[in-house]
Amino acid sequence: MLIQRPKGTSDILPDQVEKWHYIENVLRQICREYGYDEIRTPIFEHTELFQRGVGETTDIVEKEMYTFRDKAERSITLRPEGTASVCRAYAENKLYANPLPVKLYYLGPMFRYEKPQAGRFRQFNQFGIEVFGSTNPAVDAEVITLAMDFYERLGLNGLEVHLNSVGCPKCRPVHKRKLQEFLQPHLDKFCPNCQGRFERNPLRMLDCKNPTCQELSDGAPTTTQCLCDECEEHFAAVKSYLDAVGVRYFVDERLVRGLDYYTKTAFEIMVEEIGAQSAICGGGRYDGLIEEIGGPATPGIGFALGMERIFAALAVQGIDIPLVTRKDVYIAVLGQAAAVEGFRLQAILRKLNLKVETDYLGRGLKAQLKAADRVRARFAVIIGDDELARGVVVVRQMDSGDQVEIGLIDLEDYLLANS
Ligand code: HAM
Repeated sequence: MLIQRPKGTSDILPDQVEKWHYIENVLRQICREYGYDEIRTPIFEHTELFQRGVGETTDIVEKEMYTFRDKAERSITLRPEGTASVCRAYAENKLYANPLPVKLYYLGPMFRYEKPQAGRFRQFNQFGIEVFGSTNPAVDAEVITLAMDFYERLGLNGLEVHLNSVGCPKCRPVHKRKLQEFLQPHLDKFCPNCQGRFERNPLRMLDCKNPTCQELSDGAPTTTQCLCDECEEHFAAVKSYLDAVGVRYFVDERLVRGLDYYTKTAFEIMVEEIGAQSAICGGGRYDGLIEEIGGPATPGIGFALGMERIFAALAVQGIDIPLVTRKDVYIAVLGQAAAVEGFRLQAILRKLNLKVETDYLGRGLKAQLKAADRVRARFAVIIGDDELARGVVVVRQMDSGDQVEIGLIDLEDYLLANS
C-alpha cells in the first residue's frame, strides 16, 4: 500500500508552487517598500520558548504543540508560530544594536496539532512581520496597513479589520477582576475548559466556541471599558492613523487572540467567504514578550497571515494568479547524432538564460511537437540527420506553425531577437 502524507499536511505541486512564488514575490516587494528585512529562524526551538512566550494557558501550548525529546533528552518543539522565535533571535543576536525600530519579516512552515479541516492544517505556512523598539501607535497602524496593502495588491475584496485593545499589565488586572466578578455567579455552568481558565486567564473564556459559554459571557465587561489612560490614548491614536490612510476597521471588543503575549493593540483580518476559518491574518502589540523570554525590555508589534487561507480566498473570489510558464525553446531531435547536437545546443541556449527543453524519451517528430505544445514553448528547433549534415536547423513558431530554416551559427541571434 502506498504510504500517504500525514493528516493535516499538504503537497504543494509544481503548478501550485508557481503561484506560491508569485505571492511570495508580492510579499517580498511590499517588504522592500516598507523597509522590512527577512529573518530565518530554526523550525524547532526549546519548548520553554513557547511555554513562556505564547503562554501556558493557550490552546497552542496546552494541546497543539509537536513536542518531543531529542537524543540528549532536551524538550524540543516544532514552532507553532513565528513571533516567539523572532523575539528570541532579536535578543540573542543583539539586533537592538541596530538603528531602531528593527523591522523584520519571515515566511515558512508552522506546526500545530489541530483538528484538520478546511483552512486548518497541522503544517501550514505563515508570512509574518515584527517591529521592535517603538511604542509609537503609528507603527501599529503601519503593520495593519501593510497587511491590507498586500491583500489589495492581490485584488482581494470584502476584508474586514477587527480591531481591539487588550490593555497592558497596568489595566489588565482591573479588567480581570471585573470579568471574574461577572462570570463567577455562573461559573458552574461553563464548560470544564472555561472553568479551568477562570483563575488564570478568564479573558480566554470570552473566546470559547461552546454556545452555552458564549451566552453566559454575553455582556461581560470588555478590555476597552477598562483601559488605563495610556492604553486609551494609544488606541485612539492607532485609529486616527488608520483613518488618515483610509484603512477601514471595525472595533471588535470581543476579539481575543489565541496567544497570551498581546498588550494594547490586537487585530484580526477576516474574509467571510472562506468558511469557519475566516481569519486570514492576526496580530498585535506585545510590549512585554521579549523581557518575558529573558531579553531586554523592548516593545514589539507584528502579525502573521496564513498563506493557505490566501489561496482559499483567491479561489472563492475567482482571482487568477498570472503565470509565466512558457518555455522559450523545445529542441526536437531525430536520431542519435541529432540528439547529441540538440543536447549541446540546449546547454548553449541555457547560458543565454533561455528556458529550453529537449526530448529524453526517443519520441517521433509529431510526439515531440506535441510535447513542445504542452510546455507552451514559443519555438521548436528541429534537428534531423539532413539538417545536421547541412549545418542548419528548422525553427518552428509554435503559435503560428510558420517554419524557417536557419544556419546553426545564426540560431542564437535569431532566438534572442525573437523571444
Ligand atoms: P495566529 O492568529 O495564531 O497568530 O495565526 C496567524 C494566522 O495564521 C491566522 O490568522 C491564520 O491565517 C493562520 N493560521 C493559524 N493557524 C493555522 C492553521 N492551523 N492552518 C492554517 N492557517 C493557520 C500568530 O501566529 C502570531 N504569531 C501572529 C503575530 C505576529 N502576532 C504578533 N506578531
